Amino acid sequence: MATHFLNRSSFGDPANAGNLMDIEEAHQLLNEWVPNERLRLHMKQVAAVMKAWAIEKENADPGAALKWELAGLLHDADWEKYPDDHCRIIIEELEKRNIDPEVIHCIASHGPGYFGVEPVNKMDKMIYAIDELSGFVHAAALIRPTRYEGLEVKSVLKRLKTPSFAAQVSREDINDAVSRIDTSLEDLIQFIIDHQKDVA
Ligand SMILES: [Fe+2]
Repeated sequence: MATHFLNRSSFGDPANAGNLMDIEEAHQLLNEWVPNERLRLHMKQVAAVMKAWAIEKENADPGAALKWELAGLLHDADWEKYPDDHCRIIIEELEKRNIDPEVIHCIASHGPGYFGVEPVNKMDKMIYAIDELSGFVHAAALIRPTRYEGLEVKSVLKRLKTPSFAAQVSREDINDAVSRIDTSLEDLIQFIIDHQKDVA
């Protein structure tokens, strides 16, 4: 992916802290902005993994978990229609809608090498780690006759070491992202398999 530096370090208005949209509204935005079903599925998978992580690993209450879920669901919302301005357009839309700045910063930091925004809090770091890896796990599942059924971490790891498999997925980004969290690559892959396998 080409770089689209945002050249900003502050996102949203602190006065909007706690301002979220309900999940139905976010799905509606997604349906309007993202005609491509595969891309929508990617965002739903990232959202499911982010939400599960917030609840299971960060003891998030429902309001905090919704932030993680919204960031996951909307992080690529402008990619299909505005590939050259990804993710500036969705950020500006969420600012217009007075959404919580943490959600917007999380989206802005989902690819530090591309957008020039460093992940700061745990939610930022997790979207960076989950995003590419989620897509990779899905690619690894799709080539198996039984898909996610019986998909093991070791076979995902083997594919990661095969540069020609899903070659567009940056192994460097995955390693960089995982180096910023306290979870091993193996454990994160398992968590992703468990929480995105039933997302449709
Ligand atoms: Fe993504």
